[in-house]
Amino acid sequence: MPATVILGAQWGDEGKGKLVDRLAEQATWVARFQGGNNAGHTVVLGEQVLKFHLLPSGITRKECNLILGDGMVIDPWVLNKELVDWKESSGEDPRGERLFISERAHIILPYHCYMDSLDKKIGTTGRGIGPTYADKINRIGLRFGDLSEVDGDLEWASSSSERMNASLEAAGSSERVSAESLLEDVKWICDNFSSSIAHTGLMLDNALKLGEHVILEGAQGCLLDIDQGTFPYVTSSVTSRGNSTHGAGIHPGHVEEVIGITKAYITRVGNGAMPTELLDEVGDHLGTVGHEFGTTTGRKRRCGWFDAVVMRHAHRINGFTGLALTKLDVLGGLDEINICVAYELDGQEIREMPSSASALARCKPIYITMPGFPSHSLTEWLGIAKKANEDSMGFKALPSAAQHYIKQLEVLVGVPCSSVGVGPDRDATIDRVD
Ligand code: GDP
Ligand code: IMO
Ligand code: MG
Repeated sequence: MPATVILGAQWGDEGKGKLVDRLAEQATWVARFQGGNNAGHTVVLGEQVLKFHLLPSGITRKECNLILGDGMVIDPWVLNKELVDWKESSGEDPRGERLFISERAHIILPYHCYMDSLDKKIGTTGRGIGPTYADKINRIGLRFGDLSEVDGDLEWASSSSERMNASLEAAGSSERVSAESLLEDVKWICDNFSSSIAHTGLMLDNALKLGEHVILEGAQGCLLDIDQGTFPYVTSSVTSRGNSTHGAGIHPGHVEEVIGITKAYITRVGNGAMPTELLDEVGDHLGTVGHEFGTTTGRKRRCGWFDAVVMRHAHRINGFTGLALTKLDVLGGLDEINICVAYELDGQEIREMPSSASALARCKPIYITMPGFPSHSLTEWLGIAKKANEDSMGFKALPSAAQHYIKQLEVLVGVPCSSVGVGPDRDATIDRVD
C-alpha cells in the first residue's frame, strides 16, 4: 500500500491527531516528518484525553510502528516525559520496539529554548523550534546520529558552549551553558535514546516495498509553512506535502492520498493577520463551544469564519485529494454562517493571498452567507455520527443546512470532503459514502 499524507490546511490545530488516530487503525507505520513539540495533537477515546507533542498519534494503535523522522527537531526531555506518561497509562515503553528516532533528526538543547524564550514578535510556542532549525540551516546543529561522536568530547563541548554563550549574550539573555552541562546532556540523551536511533527513511522505504501502509502525520498547518505561510508569522519548517516524503526520507512517488484537514471555521494562535478573525459574540461562541485553547501552550486561540482564500492557497500548494472537515458541531446554534470567498485590499477585490504580512493585515473579507443549523450536545452528535456510519448514510445524516454548507465549501475549495467531524471523540466522525 502507498503512503497517505495528513496535513493541516489552516494555521494548525485542525484536528490532525484525531484523524491520524482514526486512520492508523489501517496503517502499519505513522511518521512525523517536520516540526517538534510546538505541535499538540489531541486524541479522545471516550473519557481518556491524550495529548501528543512528539509521539505520532498512531501510538494509540498497538500494531502501529512509529517514526520521528529526518526533518524533525526533537527535545529529548519532552520526549522522555511523553514516554513516561504513556508508560503510566499503557504500561508500554515503545523505545526501540516500535518507536524509532531518525539519526538525521536535530536535537533541541536547553540553549535553543533560552533563545526562543526571547521572542517578542512572532508569538512562538517557546519550545526552541526556530533556534534549532536555525542551527540546522547554519550547519552547526546536533543530530541524534552524531551523538556518539561528541559523547565525552570536551573540545567539542567547550567550543559549542562558547558559541552558545556568545549568542545568548548578544541576544540579551542572562542564561549561560557550560561545557560540563552540555556533556552531561549528551550522555543523558545517549543513555535514554541510543536504542531507538535508526535509519528511519530506509525502514519506511522497506515497509512501502513490502506493501505496508504508511501515514505521514503533518504538524502545524499550511499557513504556518516557512515558505508558503504568512511569513514572518510562521513556524520554521516546511509543513506542506513537498516535505512530507522528504522529511520522512522517502520519495514523493509513494504518496497516493493527501488529506487536508480544516476546521469548519478557522483559528490561529500567536501573532500575524487573520482576515476573518471575529472579535464579537460569534467569535466567543466558536472559542467557547469549540474549547479553543492551545494544546501546547494553553493560549486562547483566535477564531474566525471559514476562509476559502486560505484553503485555495493550501490546495494549490498541497494538491489535496480530500478534505477532512472538523468541528462542524461547533457551528450548531448560529443563525447564519459566513464564508470568506475573496478579500478587499486597498479598494480592489483579490482572490489570492498576498505574500506581504502588512498587505494581509489590510485585507477585508468578502463573505457569502449561509443559513445555520441547530445545536446538539456532544453526546447527540456522537450518536448521529455512529448511526450515520453504521447505516452508511454519510453526510445525509446531517441537518440539511449543514449538508449545504459542506457542498458550498467543496465547490469553493475545489476538493471533496472525505469525512466530517462532529465532536472530539474518535467515533464522532462521519465518513463520506457516495
Ligand atoms: P491538531 O494539532 O491538528 O491535532 O489539533 P489539536 O488537537 O491541537 O486541536 C483540535 C481540538 O479539537 C482538540 O481538542 C480535539 O479534541 C478537538 N476536535 C477535533 N475534531 C473535533 C470535532 O469534529 N468537533 C469538536 N467539537 N472537537 C474536535
Ligand atoms: P499543531 O501541530 C497552532 C504557531 C505558534 C506561532 C508560530 C511559530 O498542534 O497544529 P514556533 O514555536 O513553531 O516557532 O511558533 O507557529 N504554532 C502553532 N499553532 N498549532 C501548532 O501545531 C503550532 N505550532 C506552532 O503559535 O504563532
Ligand atoms: Mg494542535
